[in-house]
Amino acid sequence: MKRGTSKVDPAPPCNLFLFGAHGDLVKRLLMPALYNLARDGLLDDNLHIIGVDHNEVGDHEFAERLKAFILEQAKAKDPEHGDKAIAPVVWERLAQRISYITGDFTNDDTYQAIGRRIQENGTGNAVFYLATSPRFFREVSRRLGRAGLLYEQPEAYRRVVVEKPFGHDLPSAQALNRDLLQDMAESQIYRIDHYLGKETVQNIMTSRFSNGIFEAFWNNHYIDHVQITAAETVGVESRGNFYDSIGALRDMVPNHLFQLLAMVAMEPPAAFGADAVRGEKAKVIGSIRPWTQKEALDNSVRAQYQAGNGQAGYLEEPKVDPASRTETYVALKVMVDNWRWVGVPFYLRTGKRLTVRDTEIAICFKQAPYAQFRDTEVNQLKPNYLTIQIQPNEGMWFDLQAKRPGQALVMEDVKLGFAYKDYFQMGPSTGYETLIYDCLTGDQTLFQRADNIENGWRAVQPFLDAWAEADEVSGYTAGSDGPAEADELLARDGRRWHSLS
Ligand code: BG6
Repeated sequence: MKRGTSKVDPAPPCNLFLFGAHGDLVKRLLMPALYNLARDGLLDDNLHIIGVDHNEVGDHEFAERLKAFILEQAKAKDPEHGDKAIAPVVWERLAQRISYITGDFTNDDTYQAIGRRIQENGTGNAVFYLATSPRFFREVSRRLGRAGLLYEQPEAYRRVVVEKPFGHDLPSAQALNRDLLQDMAESQIYRIDHYLGKETVQNIMTSRFSNGIFEAFWNNHYIDHVQITAAETVGVESRGNFYDSIGALRDMVPNHLFQLLAMVAMEPPAAFGADAVRGEKAKVIGSIRPWTQKEALDNSVRAQYQAGNGQAGYLEEPKVDPASRTETYVALKVMVDNWRWVGVPFYLRTGKRLTVRDTEIAICFKQAPYAQFRDTEVNQLKPNYLTIQIQPNEGMWFDLQAKRPGQALVMEDVKLGFAYKDYFQMGPSTGYETLIYDCLTGDQTLFQRADNIENGWRAVQPFLDAWAEADEVSGYTAGSDGPAEADELLARDGRRWHSLS
C-alpha cells in the first residue's frame, strides 16, 4: 500500500535482479514474499525475477528450486497444510517470468548479461537486490554503475536494495554510504531494515498519529521510562561464523531496536511521506545522548548464553570461536535529549536463547501521585504500562488496576487492549511483502536514509569503543530471562524489567 493512500494497484513492470540468488535470504524470505504478492495480485504481469549467482543453473531448474524453497518454508510452519501453500495458477504465471544469470559478481561480463536481459524483457525499470554478503555491496554497485545500469530515464527507474549489516561501526557505515552515493542518488538506494516491514511496527506510527488521545500523555510529564525488548529463543543456529564477528549489539540495536525507539519517540511528521518521516526519525535517533566511554560501560550489560535447560552454550555452537567474547545478549540505557523526552530513560534489551520469543515496547507511566484508599500505600500501587506487542500475540495493552468486586478494597491487575487476531485476518506474510512492493513502486518511507543509518551507528559507537577496551562479558543460562546484571541495570534506578511473556 502506498503510504498515506489506500491504493493497492499492482506494482509497475520491472526487472528484479536477485544477487545472491542461492542464498538463505532469497530462500527463506524474498521468494515467499514475492509469491504472496503475486497471490494478492500486486505484481504486474511484466515483473521479471532474475536470479544472479555463480552456480550453473538453467532458468527452469532455478524456478523449480524457488518453488521447492517456498514449499519447504510453508511446511516447516504448517506441516499439515504447508504442501498446499502454492496455488498452481499463481505459480505458473510467476514461473514464466523467472530466469537466471550465471555470473561472478566481480566480473564485468555479468553486468553485460544483465544489460542484455533488461533489453530483452521489454521494460527499462530495474531493481538490483543485493541479497549478498556485505563484502559485495560496494563491488556490485560500482560495477552496475560502470556498466551504465544505474542511469535512470523517464521510463526506466533503477534502484538498489541493500541488506544489513550496513557497516559494522560508524566509520564503515559512512564509508559505505559515500561509496554508494558515488554510483547513484539517495533516491535510488533502498536500505532494508526488515522490522519496518512488520505490520505491528508500522502500526505504532499509525496509532500514535491517528488517535488524538495518545499525544496528551506521550511525554516526560506522564511517562516514567520506556523498555524495548527483542527476546529470542533461538540460538545462533547455522550462523555461528557470521554472528561471532558481529554480536547482539551490532546485529539488533542500531537497526531494529532503534527503529522501534524512533517509532515511539519521533515527533509527528508533517506528512506520511518518505522525507518527512525519515527526517523525524533522523532527528530523534540523533538526539540520543552520546555517552562517554565510562558512562557507556556503566549503562550497558553484555552477556553470552551458557549451557543449560538442555541447550548448548554459545561457545559450543558450530563455527564459534571457543574463546569468543562476542555477546549474545545486550541491555542498554539510553537517554533521548530533546524537549519531549528529557529525563525519560529508554532501556533496551535483546538476546538469543531466552525463555520466550517476545518483541515488545513497554511504556511505563508515572505512578498516581497519591493513594487515598484506606490501607493502601502509594508505593503499593503498581505502575501502569502500555505494552505494544510486536510479535508474537500482536496487539496493544494497557495494564490497569481495578477493584476486585467485594467488600474489601483489593486491587487486581486487569488489561485493556486490542489483539490483532480479534480484528484482522493476517494472512501468511514475511514482512518483506510491503518492502518489496514499496521498492517497486518507489516509496522510500520504510527504508533507511543515509543519515538514519549513520545516526544509529553514532549512538552505539560509545558502547563499541568502551567494550573494545574492556574484556568482561557476563553469562546467562540458555533458556533463562537473561543475566542478573541486566536486572541490576534497572534496579539501580529503582525500576524492573517488564516480565517476558
Ligand atoms: C536479524 C538478525 O536481522 O533479525 C537475527 O540478524 C535475528 O539475528 C532477526 O534473529 C530477528 O528478526 P525477527 O523478525 O525474527 O524478530
